[in-house]
This record gives sequence, C-alpha cells and structure tokens, in this order.
Amino acid sequence: MLVSILFLLAYMLLTASGSKGLSRISLESTTIFDVTKYGAKGDGKTDDSPAFMMAWMAACQAQQIDRSIIVVPAKKTFLLKPISFIGPCNPTHVYVQVSGNIVGPNKKTDWSGYHLDTWLSFSMVSGLTVSGSGQIDGQGPIWWQNACIGSPAPGTSCHAPVALMFKRCNGLRLNGLTHVNSPRVHITITACNNVIVSNLRIIAPETSPNTDGINVASSTNVNIRDSIIGTGDDCIAISGGSSNVEISGILCGPGHGISIGALGKGGADVVENIQVQNCTIRKTLAGLRIKSWQGGSGYARNISFKAIKLDAVYNPIMIDQYYCPTQKDCIISTSAIKLSDISFIGIVGTSSMDKVINLSCSESVACTNIVLDSVYISSITPGRKVYGTCINAHGRASHVKPSFNCLKP
Ligand SMILES: *[C@@H]1O[C@H](CO)[C@@H](O)[C@H](O)[C@H]1NC(C)=O
Ligand SMILES: *[C@@H]1O[C@H](CO)[C@@H](O)[C@H](O)[C@H]1NC(C)=O
Ligand SMILES: *[C@@H]1O[C@H](CO)[C@@H](O)[C@H](O)[C@H]1NC(C)=O
Repeated sequence: MLVSILFLLAYMLLTASGSKGLSRISLESTTIFDVTKYGAKGDGKTDDSPAFMMAWMAACQAQQIDRSIIVVPAKKTFLLKPISFIGPCNPTHVYVQVSGNIVGPNKKTDWSGYHLDTWLSFSMVSGLTVSGSGQIDGQGPIWWQNACIGSPAPGTSCHAPVALMFKRCNGLRLNGLTHVNSPRVHITITACNNVIVSNLRIIAPETSPNTDGINVASSTNVNIRDSIIGTGDDCIAISGGSSNVEISGILCGPGHGISIGALGKGGADVVENIQVQNCTIRKTLAGLRIKSWQGGSGYARNISFKAIKLDAVYNPIMIDQYYCPTQKDCIISTSAIKLSDISFIGIVGTSSMDKVINLSCSESVACTNIVLDSVYISSITPGRKVYGTCINAHGRASHVKPSFNCLKP
C-alpha cells in the first residue's frame, strides 16, 4: 500500500565564518503518503477518517527519513469524523499538504468520547506544517442553531467543537488554507512554541455564534500574519499564558475584532509582549480590546497596537476589567489582572458608535502606563460628535481625536 518516493535533496550550507566554498553537505530524505493510497475516497460521503489515520500512522512512524509529506489531493472532498493526530513522530518534519477539501460530519452524534471538544486535532507533533490551497469546512450550521450561552461542559448538546486544534506542537507552520464555518473556534493554538501562521482565509457568517478565527493560549513566539478573517466572534483572541505574539497584516471583519482575553476567569493569567500592527478592522462589534474578569490575578503587560485602520467599527478601543458577557452572576471582587504598558499608536478611521474609546479599569488595580498617540477616530456619520471615556487609567495621550483627557498621570 505504501507508495513512497525517496529522494535526496543535497544542498550546500556555507558557514558564517566567512570561509569560502563547501563546508557541509546535508542529505535529506522525504517520503510521500497520499491519503488516497490508504483508501480515502474523497467523494464527500464516505468516512475517510480511517484512511487518514492510516496515512498519519505511516507518516508519523516512518523510520530513517527527515520528512514525511501527507498529501490530500486536489479536486476531491474528504469527509472526516472527529480525529486526533498524535505525535511525537519520528521524522523531524511532518507536512500535511492539503490541496483538496475536507468537510466535517453533518450530524452532532458523530462526536463522542474524548473527541467531544474538537473536530481535527494535532498534538505533540514538533516540526509540523499544514499548508496548501484546500478548504476545511466545519459544517457549523448544525451547531449554530441552538448555540450555548456561556460555557457548558463538552457533551452538552449545545457545546460546539473547535474545528482545528494544535496542542504542544512546537515549530508549527500553518499557511495558505481556507477555513470556513467552524462549529465554534476555527483554529486553536495551545501550548505551542515557535509558530508561524500566514496567508489564511477564515470565513463564517457574522451571525454565527462563538466562531472565533484564531485563539492562542499558553503559547510563545507566535507570528500570525497576512490573513483575512471574517467570522461571528473574535478574529484573533490571545489568552492566558501567551507571550511574544506578533500579529500583522490582518484584514479583520466582520466579527469582534482583535482581543486579549478574557483573562482571569480561572484565577491567575499572564500575558506579555504582544504586538498587533498593520491591520485593518472593518465593520466589527469591537476593534482592539483587552478584557478581564473581576477576581483574577496575574498581569497583562507590554501590549502594543500600531498602525491600525478602522472602518465603521463599533467600540474601536476598549479595556474592560469588568468583563461579564452574560451580565448574570458576575463576580464582584477587588482583585484583578494588572494591566500595564499598553499602547495604541497610529489608530485611524471611523466608528459606528459615538463612544470610540472606553478604558474601564479596576478600582483596586488600576491600569498603568497606557499610551495613546496619533489616534484619530471619527464617526461614520459625517459631522457627528464622538468621545472617549476612562476610569482608573493612568498614562498619557497625545495627538488624540476626539480629545481624551481622562488619563491620570
Ligand atoms: C501590511 O499588510 C498588508 C496585508 O494586509 C501587506 O500587503 C503589506 O505589505 C503590509 N505592510 C507592511 C509595511 O508590513
Ligand atoms: C515588549 O514586547 C516586544 C514584542 O512585542 C518586545 O520586542 C520588547 O522587547 C518587549 N519589551 C520589554 C520591555 O519586554
Ligand atoms: C465602558 O465599559 C464598561 C465596561 O464594559 C461599561 O460598564 C461602561 O458602561 C462603559 N462606559 C460607557 C461610557 O459606556
């Protein structure tokens, strides 16, 4: 069954020492695992999960090769039930080349056992690349009709699964694919170090509940760039345990914008060194937002939003330390996540709401060193007045319109 093509790539690497000529020759071997050679039909009706699992096992367990390439061929549609691809793998690099389409089941009863929370998951695979021009369709509409309010346990009939989850995948590369109609979050990256996500398209209706584009949790050194994300919830959400995250070149909307948090729900959270730049946010319900629950501890610091274009955004700039979306059973507490060193620089465009900046910080743990510079936000309605507000926020504002004088020194 295994069709493997073995070839050698020889290439020369010059040392940095400045010496001329050949210093090292590296021989790399690659083996290709085409899912159709493992029995996948690609007719959109047959359950191709067993074939994908066999291709995965062969690729992951392959001996004495540097890279495995799993090929999902073009012009076919593969139906996959919930499936987990688990490492560690023997090859240093595992590529999943998706040229065709992958669709989810269209009935909820296909989810059971430990798969309840996720449709496609990769865990403990280092050196994983998932790329290609194919499409991953989570068949979300069956889940959206009776969506949960709040966060019920997996297994509750309205608890929708995440479409694509990466857990403990160091060196992850994700690029080129189109992700549509996830039941809940489209892509979750959790406990991964050294990640590059680029050139994705993530699309779901504005009205689809909880369909975040990309969630990053407990991960470090993550770069998300040059992608189009328009869904029913956050385009990108960064949550606790994440640091050194760079986001750039994102066209976001519709949805709820780019968000840090909500932090502090389960207690302590730490987020730091986050940079969001060169993004366009269009017709979203929130723009740039940091949100935390009351009662949390830990901190979020060194977060910058730079060179962001706003187009008809409702709630363009927001810090909310009183986050409680259901407005029921909200925790009332004097403890809070400490927010500091947060800058909004070069944020320009229009809002569909009059209150364009709202920095709402905890009374006991104020926000410190908040910087607004070159922030120019006007109403989409020509001539209409807009304003900003803040409580318990310290820092400085310069070149801000509407005038913003509520920051304490
Ligand atoms: C900004 O992002 C766009 C994609 O939205 C990209 O084409 C452009 O090169 C980026 N510019 C800079 C200066 O990074
Ligand atoms: C703040 O974060 C940026 C990355 O977003 C990083 O380059 C810089 O070193 C950080 N500054 C401090 C003081 O940690
Ligand atoms: C600002 O946001 C806070 C927290 O969500 C909210 O309670 C408050 O009403 C908002 N301020 C204004 C002026 O709308």
